[in-house]
Amino acid sequence: MTTPLLFTPLDMRGVRFKNRIVVSPMCQYLAVEGRIQDWHRGHHARFALGGVGAAIVEATGVTREGRITWGCTGLYDDAHVPGMREIVEIYHAQGALAGVQIGHAGRKASTARPWEGAGPLEPGGPEQAWETIAPSAIPARPGWHTPRAMEAADFERVREGFRAATHRALAAGFDFVEIHGAHGYLLHTFFSALSNRRTDAYGGDLAGRMRFLLEVAETVRSVWPEEKPVFYRATATDDAEGGITLDDTIALARELKARGVDVMDCSSGGIITGVANAQPAAPPKPGHQVHLAAGVRRGADMTTMAVGLIVDPHQAEEILQAGDADLIAIARELMADPNWPLHAAKALCVEDPYAVLPEPYAFYLRRRGEVSYRPAPAQRT
Ligand SMILES: Cc1cc2nc3c(=O)[nH]c(=O)nc-3n(C[C@H](O)[C@H](O)[C@H](O)COP(=O)(O)O)c2cc1C
Repeated sequence: MTTPLLFTPLDMRGVRFKNRIVVSPMCQYLAVEGRIQDWHRGHHARFALGGVGAAIVEATGVTREGRITWGCTGLYDDAHVPGMREIVEIYHAQGALAGVQIGHAGRKASTARPWEGAGPLEPGGPEQAWETIAPSAIPARPGWHTPRAMEAADFERVREGFRAATHRALAAGFDFVEIHGAHGYLLHTFFSALSNRRTDAYGGDLAGRMRFLLEVAETVRSVWPEEKPVFYRATATDDAEGGITLDDTIALARELKARGVDVMDCSSGGIITGVANAQPAAPPKPGHQVHLAAGVRRGADMTTMAVGLIVDPHQAEEILQAGDADLIAIARELMADPNWPLHAAKALCVEDPYAVLPEPYAFYLRRRGEVSYRPAPAQRT
């Protein structure tokens, strides 16, 4: 019996992913001053016990004002390290790897939690708004606050934020770090011509719009140990006239790879501006972003992670078998079913599917075997 690729370990630098299932980063908006709470411990324990190969902790601010909401996690203070270390230990206890997504929200910072509307915070509102920064003074949407165009000191502060956050991620024991370059946040807004109108060295052509992204990647790589991987999450296409194309992202991937970035995590969307309508014309289909991971993998000869409506074990296995990606990231389906790895192991006929679970569970489930119950046909009256 051959092992499905989904359950075949992947070695990268000095770390081993025990399988290819990765928890995609998911903001929980429940941190207090950037610190991990009990909620986060419970949230991550579900996935670790479910048998994932790795997880990426939610978008975590490299500066206080670089958080999306007041409830976002941070690595901008040493006080954030102990809580993050507990999350790492939750995964390590199950033989899984732990990564953290570090980023700066740029012009999409200072917003309300999704269930409070996700709009920009009001200066006099119950939660105080703060000043946001971006490559150019263009709001994320019409009617939103206008960010301040970044000046030399801002570049230095953000670079330093990434450097210090990477140090703290290391102190917390993370196995890998992911740079957040997607979804309309700061690095994405530098890359996209829809949001970057600068006329200095950080704007203009592709090389100019990539410059700050590459500086950040170099900063992170200079701190992060050789034996640990660096991921980069990109919006690989803006799906909008004048925005980022897959070819642009392949060019970026080549440059990132040359600077020691190991994996491109290929997402899309998020650059909603008054300039172009970047909303998808139709609801996304299963695997709607897989072609981006495939394009980068082939075009830049880079390891990729596919994400976006990957819900079925056969679908995940087909992506890997086709050579479209090396890792499969899942967000919402894992929230619905943290035992997805077990269900995938059964669906893909893994010899001992219960082995994905911790032994105190696996032992009893193996002994019990499969049991199903069929309700009796309804009685006619
Ligand atoms: C609750 C929630 C929070 C999210 N937070 C983040 C985040 O912190 N960083 C990020 O890059 N993407 C974030 N995403 C996007 C997911 O990582 C993922 O790319 C997206 O949900 C598509 O995958 P799925 O179809 O498996 O859910 C979030 C998604 C959800 C549902």
